[in-house]
Amino acid sequence: MESLNPVFPVVWQNDHLELIDQNRLPDEYDLVRISRSEDLAIAIEDMIVRGASAIGVAAAYGIYLGAREIQATERALFLNRLEAVAQTLRDTHSTAVNLSWVIDRMLKAARQTAGDVARIKSVLLETAKQIQNENLQTCYQIGNHGQQALPETPQKLRLLTHCNAGALATAGYGTALGVVRSAWLDDRLERVYATETRPRFQGARLTAWECVEEGIPVTLITDGMAAHCMQQGMVDAVVVGADCIAANGDVVNKVGTYGLALLAKAHHLPFLVAAPLSTVDFGCATGAQISSKTRDGKEISHIFDRPICPMGTEFYNPASDMTPAELVTAIITEQGAIAPSDLHQLKHPPEKR
Ligand code: MRU
Repeated sequence: MESLNPVFPVVWQNDHLELIDQNRLPDEYDLVRISRSEDLAIAIEDMIVRGASAIGVAAAYGIYLGAREIQATERALFLNRLEAVAQTLRDTHSTAVNLSWVIDRMLKAARQTAGDVARIKSVLLETAKQIQNENLQTCYQIGNHGQQALPETPQKLRLLTHCNAGALATAGYGTALGVVRSAWLDDRLERVYATETRPRFQGARLTAWECVEEGIPVTLITDGMAAHCMQQGMVDAVVVGADCIAANGDVVNKVGTYGLALLAKAHHLPFLVAAPLSTVDFGCATGAQISSKTRDGKEISHIFDRPICPMGTEFYNPASDMTPAELVTAIITEQGAIAPSDLHQLKHPPEKR
């Protein structure tokens, strides 16, 4: 099942990477050309590319770009320098577990490739393309499996989503928004409610943009309006993405996700988390072990460079929060929708077996 108007945030163009600049949407659709791995690291930190899966896909190409710049022809020295490239990319995002997963997979591909450095470089490019394609296929599968997890309702579904776990946050199609897209294509969806997602407005700028581009009815609400909408019976289920899922099913995602999970429970609504298995950290027992990055207070104090509070105000700006597994109705992966407590039954993605 594919969307009618596909969006691909990360595109390999012959010898460089092209990223949709996600900071400029929806006003401008700009493409950023990336030819060096250091520039990709900055692009991830600046959130030109964001969303756990998209960061992972971009980082796979980032490893190749870094490898391409290494002059060493001696294998051991080359692999050593590649570790340094990997570390710079790894340090760009502490919670997006796909990033570590992709980097480990790329390093493993390099180590396991027999032959000279030129051969390793070409395998790295092929592996990056494979990771990208796999992520896209995974999103289609998540979209499909998500249909079984959605509630049966007398009317068409009204789904609420947070932040952007759409095509822009993946290789394409999306995870949470992939479930929304598939429901739309199956003619089961009435509309999607997008929370604006303070402080960076990924819901308003990105999720609403994706929906409008595709003709999916979208209603934007501020983050504080979700409780009211649920109380008014306007929402049938909540579906969100994840930055990292612990082995016990605890979910770390964009700050505000936990609040929505509590609200969904209070209103007896399914709370669904859609994510590829590469987002599950099977080595991490619970969400308490996952750290959340605190971002610059200027993201809160200013809206598009305009101050919204007096000088002297202090800020707390965590990027993500942790939703305990007991609040999650189902986790939708490429292998199907399951209860968080059954996560351990799923097959780990190849590099984690
Ligand atoms: O801070 P962001 O915009 O990278 O946050 C993104 C999310 O919270 C997504 O839900 C998550 O990364 C999953 S993307 C498939």
